[in-house]
Amino acid sequence: MTAVGGDFRLSGASCFVGFLVKTPPPGCVASVADEGTGVTIKIIGTGVGQPKCVVSNDEFAAVTGLETSDEWIRTRTGIETRRICTDETLTELSTAAARQALGNAKLGADQMDYLIGATIGGDKRTPALACMVAEQLKVECPAVDLNGGCVGFMYALSYAEALIAAGRAHNVLIVCAEKMSAHMNFLDRSTSVLFGDGAAAVVVTQGESLEYIRLGTVPDSHAISMPNRMMGNNPWAVGEETEPILTMDGQKVFKFAVQTVQEEVTRALDTMHLTPNDIDLYLLHQANGRIIDSVIQHLGIDPDKFPRIIQKYGNMSSVSVPTLLHELIQQGQIKSGQRLLLCAFGAGLTYGTCVITWE
Ligand code: ACO
Repeated sequence: MTAVGGDFRLSGASCFVGFLVKTPPPGCVASVADEGTGVTIKIIGTGVGQPKCVVSNDEFAAVTGLETSDEWIRTRTGIETRRICTDETLTELSTAAARQALGNAKLGADQMDYLIGATIGGDKRTPALACMVAEQLKVECPAVDLNGGCVGFMYALSYAEALIAAGRAHNVLIVCAEKMSAHMNFLDRSTSVLFGDGAAAVVVTQGESLEYIRLGTVPDSHAISMPNRMMGNNPWAVGEETEPILTMDGQKVFKFAVQTVQEEVTRALDTMHLTPNDIDLYLLHQANGRIIDSVIQHLGIDPDKFPRIIQKYGNMSSVSVPTLLHELIQQGQIKSGQRLLLCAFGAGLTYGTCVITWE
């Protein structure tokens, strides 16, 4: 689906078409392992770019008219602080993340064959954030953004895998970046306290690390949604202009997340003939600590295998999983030969799971 902007900023244009079709076709799902196409990529460098400003729950509680508390946010979500952009642009954060990832990969920007951005909205509607980063890095390779909501990182990995498998790229730079604070009504306590801003990048190249990836959509354009400003001052447009603010049916998304993550983790393990213990670490999307608790309880897996950063950063959408990956690598908690399962869910409603044996 090609579009500069759909009716909604969140719930990407292609998801909305899926909703109109009503029955999601089997083609919504892609799986390296299912298709037996073999193993084609590995991650060789990670990096992050974070805003300076750390905002505590108490600072939200002090906002007049918000009526929230540290106790509510902490117990219902597990969030204690989040980063919020003040003067930083997403291009700056993304470029910092990209430079760190390239440094860790020991590759130059000029060695990248493709730049993929994963974001629900960069600094400009157009050009894509990936192009803005390419300008900063002074590279002229193809650059494009994907809007996969919180699953953006998995969609970008799948795209990179396809490019590399097809021989159309050797090295791909993926940059995930979100300024969630730009899409909030800061007087809506049901959303504003949940999200954080940031960027994370990975460099991928040909390898034998990604063993399984499966993506899917359960089309629902209302559960998490953010309209575009579509009418402007067009004198022929009819109807009401909508505010480009994020809204969410929290309980619906919560149930979707718990059920989908359980099903997709089980499916991945079954497909690969693995037991839960064969996975060293489960890197789940960091949207709510209680979602992670529920998944652990239902699957009966050791809680120590589910590292968290939700308490520090809140929900950073597509940035959460690659930031978690980066921090675990920096802390020496991910070692060669370990098997990781990554799973995310988000606007669309999209979901994605992959299994990686770390090289
Ligand atoms: N502070 C204080 N009270 C609050 C707050 C707040 N920040 N937010 C809601 N409340 C109140 C509600 O008004 C409600 O009050 P009432 O009982 O008087 O009506 C009460 O708390 C309970 O509200 P619920 O919505 O039932 O709270 P719940 O326990 O479901 O938690 C939450 C809400 C945190 C949003 C949860 O449903 C959730 O995490 N959902 C999943 C969100 C998610 O995973 N999103 C990921 C995708 S995002 C993306 O893709 C960009």
